[in-house]
Amino acid sequence: MDHFLYRDGALHAEDVAISDIAAAVGTPFYIYSTATLERHYRLFEEALAGLPHLICFAMKSNGNLAVIRTLAELGAGIDVVSAGEYLKARAAGVPGDRIVFSGVGKTREEMRLALDGGIRQFNVESEPELLALNEVALSMGVRAPITVRVNPDVDAKTHEKIATGKKENKFGIPISRARAVYAEAAALTGIEVVGIDVHIGSQLTDLEPFEQAYLKVADLTRQLRADGHDIHRLDLGGGLGIPYERSNAAPPLPLDYGAVIKRTVGDLGCEVEIEPGRLISGNAGLMVSRVIYVKSGEEREFLILDSAMNDLVRPSMYGAHHDIVPVIEPAPGTEMRPYDVVGPVCETGDTFAKQRPLPPIAAGDLVAFRSAGAYGAVMASEYNARPLIPEVLVKGDQFAVIRARPTYDELINRDTIPQWL
Ligand code: LLP
Repeated sequence: MDHFLYRDGALHAEDVAISDIAAAVGTPFYIYSTATLERHYRLFEEALAGLPHLICFAMKSNGNLAVIRTLAELGAGIDVVSAGEYLKARAAGVPGDRIVFSGVGKTREEMRLALDGGIRQFNVESEPELLALNEVALSMGVRAPITVRVNPDVDAKTHEKIATGKKENKFGIPISRARAVYAEAAALTGIEVVGIDVHIGSQLTDLEPFEQAYLKVADLTRQLRADGHDIHRLDLGGGLGIPYERSNAAPPLPLDYGAVIKRTVGDLGCEVEIEPGRLISGNAGLMVSRVIYVKSGEEREFLILDSAMNDLVRPSMYGAHHDIVPVIEPAPGTEMRPYDVVGPVCETGDTFAKQRPLPPIAAGDLVAFRSAGAYGAVMASEYNARPLIPEVLVKGDQFAVIRARPTYDELINRDTIPQWL
């Protein structure tokens, strides 16, 4: 459920008419609903009730400071993957002891930054990284709290570009090597082992792979404890999928996911961390765009929008589906017709949807892409010298621009011309 509904024939974000925001901000833009963000966060809180836990929002899905602050005020932790994300989390007011640092390629500078500023734990992904972190920590006279990310060799049954838990993927260390790596870690005086980490992929619509992975983590916990390690924290990653197509069967709910966690690792006495991104931010956001032209080709009609693949790359990158809805509600019984919905970028790949049934749409109309709050704005680029589009946050009847559209001067002045030219 989200808070983007038609009222009196016009799409609203909570209590604000989308067309009012479009008039104030210009199109295209992203818009997020505070109530939806909060609701999704609370679903995970309820799902893990009774277990000691921390929900670490995966900032890679939506990194706007206002979104992070909204969740941090509810008590959320944050999962970061770069110095930039770490610093943004801190700037949004997240204390270091609620930040976990994931990622396969942390640099020594990033390690130093987080150790200096405060960090809950590093999720270490390789032996060379472990050794580097040990050196950095020793050079600073501190101990770095770590989990080791294990790769459980489980098929997440999701899109190949976002599956991470098979042995052929670049993530984590093979679970078969875990005991050796933990023994190595225990011998390093700059390292403090606190637990185990696993993340098998994103947009999972089946709980079975989670169950398999978490059972392997539970077994490993017992083995490592028998080996003498103090395993008291399990980071179970993110990945729970969302319904991108309203017409499809809904994926499992956080409550069902929580039941899997309780069933598989609930009796180990560990503190549980999860790193959901998409389920919290995805359906809390829309991308709103205006139709520039309706163009009739020989065989099809094209809706040419003022947004493009640089603003929302998921359809061209993953063939992803986003529901597209008109901002003015169609009258009941309106007949749908198929449109190809495209952007103005000079690539055939700049196509949001092909032969999508929509009510008749005219130039100048506003349309909204649903489920665009995760991996939308964060993956945008300025390809074709199109400035990044603004982000807006709604709360009740208020809205605020939480990232302004850059001016053309800003875009141009980012480049410099060397003196020899
Ligand atoms: N934790 C780790 C270590 C991750 O790599 C990810 C996502 C998450 C948590 C959050 O996963 P989520 O709950 O959002 O599924 N750009 C792609 C998704 C890439 C996901 C990468 N890792 C897309 O647009 O579908």
